[in-house]
Amino acid sequence: MSFQPPKGTDDIIAPESQAWRETLRLWEELSERYGYPLVSLPIFESTELFERGVGDTSEVVTKQMYTFTDQGGRSVTLRPEGTAGVMRAYLDSGSRGAWKAAYSGPFFRYERPQAGRRRQFWQVGVEYVDVAGPVADVEVVELGYRFISDSGLSEVVLLLNSLGDPECRPAYVEALRSYLRDRRSELSADSAALIERNPLRVLDSKQDSPRLTDAPRTIDYLCAACAEHFAAVKSGLERLGIPYEEDPNLVRGLDYYTRTAFEYIATGLDAAQNAVGGGGRYDGLAETIGGRSTPGVGFALGVDRIMLALGAPERAHLDAYLVSETGPGDALEVASRLRAEGIRVDFDTEDRSVKAQFRTAGRLEVPVVLVWKGEGVPMDVQTRDDRVSLPVQEVSTWFRR
Ligand code: HAM
Repeated sequence: MSFQPPKGTDDIIAPESQAWRETLRLWEELSERYGYPLVSLPIFESTELFERGVGDTSEVVTKQMYTFTDQGGRSVTLRPEGTAGVMRAYLDSGSRGAWKAAYSGPFFRYERPQAGRRRQFWQVGVEYVDVAGPVADVEVVELGYRFISDSGLSEVVLLLNSLGDPECRPAYVEALRSYLRDRRSELSADSAALIERNPLRVLDSKQDSPRLTDAPRTIDYLCAACAEHFAAVKSGLERLGIPYEEDPNLVRGLDYYTRTAFEYIATGLDAAQNAVGGGGRYDGLAETIGGRSTPGVGFALGVDRIMLALGAPERAHLDAYLVSETGPGDALEVASRLRAEGIRVDFDTEDRSVKAQFRTAGRLEVPVVLVWKGEGVPMDVQTRDDRVSLPVQEVSTWFRR
């Protein structure tokens, strides 16, 4: 037996986990501020939901799903993404009209593991469904952008494209197909096989897309309604001062997108995993999974990648460590008082020497050590370069100074 996590998965533990916790807390706060209630959905769904929703020519479905048959003989799949599940939940809920949802949790794709490309990874995301207008797209893009910058990532580029809709996409797909047919011999076998089935996927091929820069561009084929929507999204972003770059080759890896498609790229990461997030509009998704026509727009961000780009800063998860000269029973009482006042404090529940307690404080790299010397005796408050003595009831005020 080997005590290691499965290939492509990680144990996220202290001290790195503190940066995760802060980032996830920021997510909860920010998504709430933008009016997105939490949804918590099953981590496995029926396999068909993803085959139909995400699309059976996407790599996610053809190569990356964790699919198994349960004890009842049903085929289920660990969710590789969140949008299909959210749309299913919306349709199931019987709700009508604009509906917002924010999520945060683990997702699963059988990929070749490397830094920032994991088999179990964490996404935070939102879906805004039953809304068709471009302002929804802009609001969604802005939320993702603000989250990324508030989490401390500065070198991020927003890429934007429009993929058209069932009205104008067919003419584009035909043009792309004939362009690719002429270059079949230059393409990888995987890409060549996609020319007839789903030529857009070829543009998403890491291997081939760099050589296809003169391929037909979706934006040259947009119908009037799609062109107008795209123009409105761009001017909405401009009004909010959000910089973007148009990328006519941005097609995204999932089949449900219509019109707006976008990605947030961390320029500091390797190209293979520098997309810290992506999303777009999926006006046809609800129907492909058997529901009534319901437009929607959303994104998901890869928290593993954001952490990688941030360089996983190590941060103390405590404001202070409490050292007790009178045993752990007293320490618990003092800690309880401080915790009630909002101080993040910990102490040793075992009856150890003062020296050993100081060693623990050092190992935890806390900014402050508090020393309890007994009832009625002022406490020592020690920082790296200062030391004061305070009655215990003044300690929390000192922290807020
Ligand atoms: P996606 O582009 O497949 O979109 O994934 C979103 C983000 O999840 C990626 O940009 C990346 O940061 C992260 N990610 C994906 N796969 C992995 C992996 N194997 N390891 C680490 N991070 C990964 C979606 O999933 C769509 N559901 C987004 C969306 C929401 N579109 C509309 N609404």
